[in-house]
Amino acid sequence: MAYVDDATINAIRRRHPIKEIVERYVTLTKKGNDYWGLCPFHPDNNASMSVSTKLDMFQCFACHKAGNIFNFIADMENISYGEAINLLAKEDGYYVSGLTKKQNPHAKDYEIMSLAGKFYQNNLNSALGNNAIKYLEERQIDRDTIKKFEIGLATDKQALTPFLLNKYDLNDLIELGLSNDNSSDIFNNRIMIPIHDLNGNPIGFGGRIYQTRDSSKYVNTKATRIFDKSKILYNYHRAHNKLNKDNSIIIMEGYFDVIRASTVGVNNCVAPMGTSLTKKHIQILKKITNNIILCFDGDKAGRDATVRALELLEDESVNVGIIRLEEKDPDEFIIKRGKEEFLKKINNPLSVIEFKMNLLKEDKNLNDTKEVSNYLDEIIRELVKEKDSFMVTLTLKKLERRFDVDYKILEDRYNKYKKSNKKDSLSNNLKVNNTKKKLLNKYGQATNNLLYYMTVSPHEIIDYAEKHVIMIMDSKKRRLFNELIYYYHKYGTIIIADLISYLNTKTDVYDVFNEIINMNLKKEYTKEEIDDYIKCVNDYYKINKTDKLKLELNTETDPMKQAKILMEIMKIRGVNNND
Ligand code: GTP
Ligand code: MN
Repeated sequence: MAYVDDATINAIRRRHPIKEIVERYVTLTKKGNDYWGLCPFHPDNNASMSVSTKLDMFQCFACHKAGNIFNFIADMENISYGEAINLLAKEDGYYVSGLTKKQNPHAKDYEIMSLAGKFYQNNLNSALGNNAIKYLEERQIDRDTIKKFEIGLATDKQALTPFLLNKYDLNDLIELGLSNDNSSDIFNNRIMIPIHDLNGNPIGFGGRIYQTRDSSKYVNTKATRIFDKSKILYNYHRAHNKLNKDNSIIIMEGYFDVIRASTVGVNNCVAPMGTSLTKKHIQILKKITNNIILCFDGDKAGRDATVRALELLEDESVNVGIIRLEEKDPDEFIIKRGKEEFLKKINNPLSVIEFKMNLLKEDKNLNDTKEVSNYLDEIIRELVKEKDSFMVTLTLKKLERRFDVDYKILEDRYNKYKKSNKKDSLSNNLKVNNTKKKLLNKYGQATNNLLYYMTVSPHEIIDYAEKHVIMIMDSKKRRLFNELIYYYHKYGTIIIADLISYLNTKTDVYDVFNEIINMNLKKEYTKEEIDDYIKCVNDYYKINKTDKLKLELNTETDPMKQAKILMEIMKIRGVNNND
């Protein structure tokens, strides 16, 4: 967006109260100081969106969309922020030049994939889809589910490529994995399951055979410029705002497992795209939950996949629950044993150590004393990795009762392994990393909180923070910090709705800002809390800075320079003592 005077944009914004703008699309009801309505940006039954006439902002407490009138119009009308400004300016009889169009580099790709999806859905609903519908009915997939998951059909009687060629270039269709270079379709006679990216943009398909058995069960879209399997999880865009009451997400293996679970009201399920789970997947999920439940297939392959996933999850700070099924997969389990049995399973997942105990038992004869001894030893080795000390005690007690071995003996063995484990340099390293990670989390939180109160209570906090914060290590947050100070000094106040306009062109700062205003911290704060945040931010800087200087000190040979570095370290520590 080219430079447009802040005052011009703010003036347009002031002419259009947020309530009037939102009410063009959504019915609002007054509750307390704010107005509430159904959020148009996610499937909402609970009127999760609030509109504050005081702040001139809207905010959804479920999907976390928030912003001023321009953001609202832009998202509703699917236009750019600049176009939204102009749309409202035009109503007032103005045109603001210099506002360019939204440049989503993949907008056309999504449009093509979406149209392809609609084409496939039409096929399924036409007479060509009779057999496919019959197949789905036999699998107990009803019309509502077909609609919800936007399931369609690719058939050789009605080709997609010529249809799309009316409007798009063959090169794009090839690039997106829909067509061959001889203008024929990639997908033929398959039931088509659309796949979306994390934001819900259609990016690919899983195509399942339903009448022949002599070809591969699934053909999935190849890797394309918008489809990267390692970065997506099937159904994430629906599941992420359907977390259940424990706020957990369930990982399954197949599309149809996820789809089946939703038919019994379990909507918080995702699946990797036929690949094993990766760190990247875990990072995606960690942003929305600390509770991950693994619900893989009931067979040996599913068991092995569970073990592999646990290895990945071992040094992540998430709670892991495990479900093992006495049927082939979640799909079959639900069909054969019904909703209640399945809910019982997912409401009582195994802990990691319980799962490992079962696993270690599998190939042992527990009537044989020697094997029992091995078994106990193996469990205790695993138990050393358990972070929850209650879990350790409870497990040792369980073993005591079950195998009639004195608790003390089990505990001694545990302590012995625990000790040798500590010496183990590798696990020590991990530990160091974990403390650093914890520190980072604490520091990150403190920085966010500080930035939050700087934004909502600028008169009290901005000058104070400017004076006392030495340095914010995270560059984006540092930029936001400086922007807030700049903005406050320029305008003498912070009106959040105007600040949004101001930050809108500074993309990465805006992302951080969005995260921060969405935190919904309590309104009241104490000076001690603010001091705590500032201290935490400064401590983190000092630790990082001294670590770096110490490294330099180790490699420096010139005594004069060494002395200088030492002085510098002392100085940083000195700052520490003064406050
Ligand atoms: P159903 O057999 O219809 O119940 O399929 P499912 O969704 O339960 O899949 P399954 O558990 O057999 O496989 C798990 C996932 O692996 C699928 O969702 C696909 O993403 C992938 N997959 C399975 N079979 C194939 C295949 O033949 N080719 C490819 N490319 N992927 C496959
Ligand atoms: Mn299946």
